[in-house]
Amino acid sequence: AKKPITVTLTGAGGQIGYALLFRIASGAMLGPDTPVRLNLLEIPQGVRAAEGAALELQDSAFPLLSHVEVYDDARSAFHGANVALLVGARPRSAGMERGDLLTANGGIFGPQGAAINAAAADDVRVIVVGNPANTNALIAASHAPDVPAERFTALTRLDHNRALGQLAATVDTPVGDIRRVTIWGNHSATQFPDIAHATAAGDSVPALLAARLGGTDSAREWLVDEFIPRVAKRGAEIIEVRGSSSVASAASATIDHMRDWVAGTPNGWTSAAVVSDGSYGVPEGLVSSFPVESVDGTWRIVPDLELDEFARHRIAASVAELVEERDAVRSLGLI
Ligand code: NAI
Repeated sequence: AKKPITVTLTGAGGQIGYALLFRIASGAMLGPDTPVRLNLLEIPQGVRAAEGAALELQDSAFPLLSHVEVYDDARSAFHGANVALLVGARPRSAGMERGDLLTANGGIFGPQGAAINAAAADDVRVIVVGNPANTNALIAASHAPDVPAERFTALTRLDHNRALGQLAATVDTPVGDIRRVTIWGNHSATQFPDIAHATAAGDSVPALLAARLGGTDSAREWLVDEFIPRVAKRGAEIIEVRGSSSVASAASATIDHMRDWVAGTPNGWTSAAVVSDGSYGVPEGLVSSFPVESVDGTWRIVPDLELDEFARHRIAASVAELVEERDAVRSLGLI
């Protein structure tokens, strides 16, 4: 039998954790032949909820699930981790300043990065979901000097999937036929969902949109006034309609990100926030979303895409926000 993969999940007693656990244990993330050991990390107040989820995992009798353990200590929880899903974070409470939010999260992601550095397996792959995800990933990576920086990523796949959903509905194509969509920049309202290169069943999406919406100008208007803000603000729309934040879709996107990272992206590129190598003018070292392909278990930024003035401007705006966040955590001594 194959040796189990150790998956460490933080925030395991929270909502996204609850939605993730059952899909991981079913094999949706690492495939139907890979047994999984689950290490669940919580803060003391969250331990009982994580223990309850562990009981339900037992009751689900997943054949691939070899072991579940609940921890409130990061070193123990990351011991031997091959996959680390960093979901637990400090949310912004009423009246909280940005500096306080960054400091609170620095207090979580700094020590977790250090624990990963000290205790995780050599092949560890990390995804940060907890917000502000890009900068939390930057903090964690900066505390893990012995782990290659490329192993630290942040989730923008939810934004990517949201963009696919909107496009599929608008050009009336099955979502699985859409390729070459990109989320650039920060997982925030400044993100740039880019469809300039997108295709649907091989046809140019911008051309399909122009045909459907009555010309290039109307397609442009739709892009700027409807599509981009709808994708960027979809989180708020879900809260408004559902009465609660995006949970299942966030968990699903996390599964997609890690599955593709490990198993590859046979259908071309997707989006992920990865450590910049300076591509597309994004300062080296920032954790920013790019078009990426997973090749031999490594994310590679898709090179040499042509960007028009509009795209360059939008990317620069989101990257400027990431630079600001980086400078803020630097001046707070968090990196
Ligand atoms: P939640 O509040 O239901 O769960 C968070 C859990 O993390 C809680 O059980 C809490 O006790 C735990 N936690 C807090 N600090 C911890 C620490 N130091 N170590 C271990 N566990 C810790 O929140 P939910 O809905 O599960 O969301 C989790 C995070 O994901 C939030 O920061 C949210 O903003 C973010 N998010 C990110 C998305 C993305 O696309 N990047 C999408 C949706 C949510």
